[in-house]
Amino acid sequence: MDRERWGEVDDYITGLFVGEDASLQAALVASRAAGLPPIQVTPPMGKFLQLLARVRGATRILELGTLGGYSTIWLARALPPGGRMITLELLPERAELARVNLDRGGGGGLVEVRVGAAITALAQLVDEGAGPFDLDFIDADKEHNAEYFQRALELTRPGSVIVVDNVVRYGAVVATESRDTAVIGTRRLNEVMAAEPRVSVTELQTVSGKRWDGFALALVLG
Ligand code: SAH
Ligand code: DHB
Ligand code: MG
Repeated sequence: MDRERWGEVDDYITGLFVGEDASLQAALVASRAAGLPPIQVTPPMGKFLQLLARVRGATRILELGTLGGYSTIWLARALPPGGRMITLELLPERAELARVNLDRGGGGGLVEVRVGAAITALAQLVDEGAGPFDLDFIDADKEHNAEYFQRALELTRPGSVIVVDNVVRYGAVVATESRDTAVIGTRRLNEVMAAEPRVSVTELQTVSGKRWDGFALALVLG
């Protein structure tokens, strides 16, 4: 079993169920042309996030880490009329490209792309009383994931879901001696989530055209 076959299976699933449309594909083409790294969620994962938002009946969604807005489009399309999404991106040129991609993808009117470090932006959202969000998708730098989770939790309500991407890192997460700052960040996140009584958590490992990774799913309890 190798990455090539994992990608073929993703294509098979995408062809059957996911229906990545022209504007999602255009977002990827534009992102590649702009030199962005191809680290967006896969089409089945994008659809998964969208279905999760719909299962939850999410009307307010928060995302950390926009890149070119690919996952943002998937999530924004789950919103009902009048819904709202805020997505946080460190780099202004990525945020600008994401806005263009979102306008093409139909999510533009409901989505605000905020530029800046997520830690600062999260503090600002708390100050503004911007919550509660029904779904938080944490997918920015992995080093600060514990802080992102704690802040994001303050912006939720019972029944909200928090998804964190990239928690398996090709298995590196179990390397207790790792000096990879992303692995250290993920292990800190996991300790914080495990000790947090306000959430019920699991993590699922995934294989895909990207690589062996996984995501955390946390349900905010009453
Ligand atoms: N969610 C996107 C992929 C995000 S990649 C998708 O699946 O389509 C991670 C993004 O987080 C990158 O664009 C990177 O610039 C951004 N990022 C990195 N550090 C950040 C920080 N401190 N604050 C906000 N965004 C950050
Ligand atoms: C990578 C993948 C991601 O989903 C991400 O958010 C950051 C980095 C990667 O494969 O390097
Ligand atoms: Mg990711």
